[in-house]
Amino acid sequence: MSDSKIPGLDAIAPGLEASLRRRLHDMEARLERALACDLSLLLDASVYLFQAGGKRIRPSLVFLAGHLGNPAEEALTEGAAAIELTHLASLYHDDVIDGARLRRGVPAAHEKWGVKTAILTGDFLFARATGLVAALGREASDLIARTVSQLCEGQIREVTSWGDATISEAAYFEIVRRKTASLFGASCRMGGLLSGASRQDQEHLEAYGLALGVAFQLSDDLLDIQGNGTWLGKNSGVDLAGGWYTLPVIHALAHGKWKGELSALLASGPPQGESLRRAREIVGAEESLLGTQSRVRAAVAEAKERAARLSRRQIAPVFAFLADLVAGRCKAAAP
Ligand code: FPP
Ligand code: MG
Repeated sequence: MSDSKIPGLDAIAPGLEASLRRRLHDMEARLERALACDLSLLLDASVYLFQAGGKRIRPSLVFLAGHLGNPAEEALTEGAAAIELTHLASLYHDDVIDGARLRRGVPAAHEKWGVKTAILTGDFLFARATGLVAALGREASDLIARTVSQLCEGQIREVTSWGDATISEAAYFEIVRRKTASLFGASCRMGGLLSGASRQDQEHLEAYGLALGVAFQLSDDLLDIQGNGTWLGKNSGVDLAGGWYTLPVIHALAHGKWKGELSALLASGPPQGESLRRAREIVGAEESLLGTQSRVRAAVAEAKERAARLSRRQIAPVFAFLADLVAGRCKAAAP
């Protein structure tokens, strides 16, 4: 169902890949049980993106973070399912907001069932996530509530800066920290919390997840420009055309060789036709991407620095390895 294998993980921690896959398998079964409902349309729509695939990064982080406490703790399965459900809910809504056509290699839910059903399915998924997490106690519920508030704030900040070619790098990072990194941070903290890790480890785990999430979103934005969307199961090249100006655009506008030309191309709204072609050429030029790649490396370095502070020395290299994988996917690995 998922394509969640982490290549190279076994070389770092023998046996971990197999145990992670077992836990993810249990999580998938738990998640499907949590979606039980009598209305076939709602059932079909709610399992749709989950069954379409996905890397299961966030639940994997929950289970890996569980190694800071008792990794066999059963509650980790529920916590991981709640996190994945929250993530899925956000994708249904995000695709409506972005007008995305494709997600996980299949038509976006609103393309298949219409906007109303897609939004309500997102609400339903989040309701079921809330039900799962309620059974895990006050602290886990607070964590999800705080995180979803951050997701919404990030999205609102993004929506209100739509088409704004003057958006600053700082404002962009505020969006990224909330809309994406917060859930990575919460996944790691959830694993620490439910496994009984120390408070200090929970702090380091969350900070690690936040930095990893920033690196992940930056790499996503780079891949959109580099044209690797099909590989990710979504259309690429859509951010610039859609008026979502991400870091490579911000850098090209601030420091690029063709900043004046790019600024003129974006002056009357998101570019189309020949203007779009030229804007893509400018933003996709190697020199425009270098700045974003260096920010990915900085976020990866921060994540690794946090991982190095975790109390269980054996698991820290696994977290560092994951951070390198994120850098590698957008070719931002340290030379
Ligand atoms: C990805 O942004 C960001 C998200 C998927 C977060 C979306 C959050 C909400 C819609 C808030 C509501 C949340 C819930 C739980 C109902 P992106 O568009 O840059 O990434 P993409 O390329 O994968 O679409
Ligand atoms: Mg989107």
